[in-house]
Amino acid sequence: MIGRARGVVLAGLAGHVIEVEAHVAPGLPSFTLVGLPDTALSEARERVRAAVASSRLTWPARRVTVSLSPASLPKSGAGTDLAIAVAVLAAAGLIRADAGMSAVHLGELGLDGRVRAVRGVLPAVAAAAKAGARVVVVPDECVAEAALVPGVEVRGVRSLAQLLAAYGNSDAHELAALATQAPLAPEPGSASPDVMADLADVRGQAEARAALEVAAAGGHHLLMTGPPGVGKSMLATRLPGLLPDLSPADAVEVTSVHSLAGTFDPSVGLLTRPPFEAPHHSASAAAIVGGGAALARPGAISRAHAGVLFLDEAPEFPTRVLQTLRQPLERGEVVLHRALGATRYPARFQLVMAANPCPCGKYYGPHPECTCTPHVRRTYLHRLSGPLLDRVDLHVDVRPVRRVDDGPAESTAVVAARVAQARERARARLAEHGWGSNAQAHGRWLRDHTPRAACTDLWRALDHGVVSVRGADRTLRVAWTLADLAGEPAPDAAHVAQALALRTRELA
Ligand SMILES: Nc1ncnc2c1ncn2[C@@H]1O[C@H](COP(=O)(O)OP(=O)(O)O)[C@@H](O)[C@H]1O
Ligand SMILES: [Mg+2]
Ligand SMILES: [Zn+2]
Repeated sequence: MIGRARGVVLAGLAGHVIEVEAHVAPGLPSFTLVGLPDTALSEARERVRAAVASSRLTWPARRVTVSLSPASLPKSGAGTDLAIAVAVLAAAGLIRADAGMSAVHLGELGLDGRVRAVRGVLPAVAAAAKAGARVVVVPDECVAEAALVPGVEVRGVRSLAQLLAAYGNSDAHELAALATQAPLAPEPGSASPDVMADLADVRGQAEARAALEVAAAGGHHLLMTGPPGVGKSMLATRLPGLLPDLSPADAVEVTSVHSLAGTFDPSVGLLTRPPFEAPHHSASAAAIVGGGAALARPGAISRAHAGVLFLDEAPEFPTRVLQTLRQPLERGEVVLHRALGATRYPARFQLVMAANPCPCGKYYGPHPECTCTPHVRRTYLHRLSGPLLDRVDLHVDVRPVRRVDDGPAESTAVVAARVAQARERARARLAEHGWGSNAQAHGRWLRDHTPRAACTDLWRALDHGVVSVRGADRTLRVAWTLADLAGEPAPDAAHVAQALALRTRELA
């Protein structure tokens, strides 16, 4: 006898509907799974068998072979348990033969027969809907998340017995009533920055505030250096508040990443605001860039997709971790290589780094009290140089505030409105090239389109070796953002001069 059921697996954020086929044949009792299963899937054998027994159904005492197709897809995780159980029980004649193909099934089975929540429900259900599924069966706890996907009917199940009753097994039916289980609370989401944090809270720091506004308007990566306690972290956490809402496509992608990472609370609905992630420098490389044993999970850089990645005390991060940021900074995604294949996750984040000027933090002002040797000082910030700083358009020195009574500071709402207008100007100009912001504009385009008169001083500085070609490109990028913020059609000499002051210095 053959039984079939549809399930769904994820490769990165991409979901694929799979077909599970179970074959029950005479012979010595055995249970074989074929079709590239990883460890978690192999453990599915034990879980499925135990769950069936706990549902007071008799496991077929014959040769059971289950194959998952297409075989070429790497399959990971426990989300296929439910489809496997349904296929086997259909093959054993314990439920209606056609039941398993009437829906796409997603769920892990507990040994007690309970259907347990899985991660990545949103991208999985979205893939099922895209593949034409009309009904999806998901764990009860995941109904709210699955229901975020339009155009598909969502049925929640608490237990295998409950599902089997629905599929025509009357023995399981009586148990269904007993199997009620309160839904577990979802893991709390960590995606949203403190929404109460307003830019009005930050006193003084005019230059850093301006740099933050420019970063928000142009999508520029930002480095802030300065001693501890001057407001670098305060400023960084306020950047997401200056950014516009996520586009509908980004909202689905960002929510899907957080669903997979286990940091999404479906009761808040789709995530529509740019995320903020601030991994600590002691976090593992896997936690930051993504990783895991079999198929990799998204890390902080992917949870920050379409939002802000904040590296506080950036020089303290292991060089290896800083180096791995290079690929996502270039491509907007990260590719994680594992034994079972490569997994891709989106990672198009805006990078904000904060750093002390030196290890002791006191190398600033006219009479620095710094106790570090010149060599230690130089090597400290140098850890950020090379490929990383090449992509950082803005560098601002943040100094201690002298007086805190310098009048009310502008609020997030006021600055965000200017940012939105500037972004719209840039979008209208750059969309035809596929660039979303000035930060993405190519050097060639910048050099060709910036009015000559605006660049006289910059080219002179270049000729004299005061700035490098890359430094000049960064200056032009920022100059365009300053023009956008001022509502001008193109930068003038003053914008270029201001941009020079805000650019990322080559660290000597
Ligand atoms: N410019 C500022 N305006 C208002 N409060 C500030 C400012 N700078 C520092 N603070 C206060 O000091 C604390 C530490 O600031 P923080 O942003 O963590 O500094 P940093 O990251 O530069 O070490 C803040 O929580 C805030 O209470
Ligand atoms: Mg700080
Ligand atoms: Zn020092």
